[in-house]
Amino acid sequence: MTRETEDRIRHSGLRDRIVSAEEAALRIKSGYRVGMSGFTGSGYPKQVPRALAEHILREHSAGRRFRISVMTGASTSSELDGALAMVDGIELRMPYNSDPTAREKINTGKMEYFDFHLGSVAQYVKSGFFGEIDVAIVEVTGITEDGRLIPSTSVGNNQVFIDSAREVILEVNHYQPMELEGMHDVFEPPMPPYRQPIMITKVSDRIGTPYLICPADKIKAIVETNSPDRATVFKDVDPDSQAISRHILDFFQREVAQGRLPKSLLPLQSGVGNVANAVLYGLLDSPFENLEVYTEVIQDGMLALIDSGKVSYASATAFSVSPAMVEQFKANVGLYKDRIILRPQSISNHVEVIKRLGVLAMNGCVEFDLYGNVNSTHINGTRIINGIGGSGDFARNSFISIFTTPSTAGKHGEISCVVPMVSHVDHCEHDVDILVTEQGLADLRGTSPKQRAEKIIEQCVHPDYRKQLREYYRYALQVSPGKHTPHILEEALGWHSRFQRTGTMRA
Ligand code: COA
Repeated sequence: MTRETEDRIRHSGLRDRIVSAEEAALRIKSGYRVGMSGFTGSGYPKQVPRALAEHILREHSAGRRFRISVMTGASTSSELDGALAMVDGIELRMPYNSDPTAREKINTGKMEYFDFHLGSVAQYVKSGFFGEIDVAIVEVTGITEDGRLIPSTSVGNNQVFIDSAREVILEVNHYQPMELEGMHDVFEPPMPPYRQPIMITKVSDRIGTPYLICPADKIKAIVETNSPDRATVFKDVDPDSQAISRHILDFFQREVAQGRLPKSLLPLQSGVGNVANAVLYGLLDSPFENLEVYTEVIQDGMLALIDSGKVSYASATAFSVSPAMVEQFKANVGLYKDRIILRPQSISNHVEVIKRLGVLAMNGCVEFDLYGNVNSTHINGTRIINGIGGSGDFARNSFISIFTTPSTAGKHGEISCVVPMVSHVDHCEHDVDILVTEQGLADLRGTSPKQRAEKIIEQCVHPDYRKQLREYYRYALQVSPGKHTPHILEEALGWHSRFQRTGTMRA
């Protein structure tokens, strides 16, 4: 027993459960429902899923089918989703995925996928809707003397998986800094009819405990690991993202000038992806001070805002940072602990809290349409990219709901991200206040569908597609005169089918 092991696993009675990843993986049988930790590439188990994938491969080679259902907080990494997808070991995945191998399996019909609001997963699990969870595999930073679990770089659904599973496998990751102890606030609301108000009235409010709680006899195996999280690589902030960021910041300044937002704004939520990260960097040079954040994921841009003093407090459920930031984070985790709380995703994404705090929600999307409906997940209506994530939790309940995208996609701008009708709806027109591309910002609040169409065409569409969209709209007005939401139904998805036929949406 090394000194490091004693420091990490302080409960001496649990040390005899330390086994290899291979031994732990053998506890998992085909057909099991497995709840794993992990959210946006952080805090996921790193060794047991890999060992399980190797075991599945051996089973398949011997002609025995072996598949499990995998639930997590959100996305994980190639060591978990990638490894298990590669060996066709996943029957059903939920509630969010961004791994390219798993995405390919989902889009070729080799894996089922339940894409769901991240804030509501815990309720589904607790209600028994998914059936019994057989095993929970959870990465932790350490175990205290009395057996409480120090969470890792994400909290996600960990407590719910531990509570609901028949047995628990822990991965104690020596790479995660011990100073994380105390950063978390774990609280899981009871089920109806016993629910009480969630007593968070300020971003920094704590309502739970810094630890995950698990009865010692449920812990069947402990695996020691020593590896970093996936680490997200963000694209360099490009001119389009900078322009999007500028439009949003100008909009916030106008809202402050008109007395509709306080000077320090309201708590910010920022979605995943490159554009979202760029918007955060834009705030660095903005006049706003004393900002607060109530969000799902802390990306590089957010840490930069905390470092600069612009953000005074941030609440989230996970980190999603680049390799360079991981080192900076590890070196300064003690300082961040005074400015960051990590909560379960049922609280970071809790509709009541989002509504009460008046969160300003900013999320990326794939495309939006003439009337403000938003597609966050599907290319050409059929091929899923990642999933809805928390965007629905935030958009529907925020004070102002903002969606962003560059106005075109594809190498040569052959896709317009502003289309007559979205090919898949994640956020309907009623949940969308502001749409932003690098071209401009359309404020849709208090507008009718026709007023929205005028604003979107003028403010958001790329010049290559503006005339084309205006012509569609003009013709729609002619063929459905006086209608509330004019459309030409045979042509509404014509841009997408043209792209499929010819490789461009250009007429
Ligand atoms: N048609 C086809 N492809 C499109 C497209 C469109 N209309 N719009 C974007 N894409 C492609 C891009 O070309 C890019 O492909 P590449 O990776 O091969 O270059 C990819 O989608 C990502 O686009 P990018 O512009 O780099 O956006 P991003 O990194 O900011 O991510 C989403 C955008 C929509 C994928 C991302 O925000 C997402 O997954 N959102 C849903 C979940 C969510 O909102 N979570 C936050 C809640 S807290």
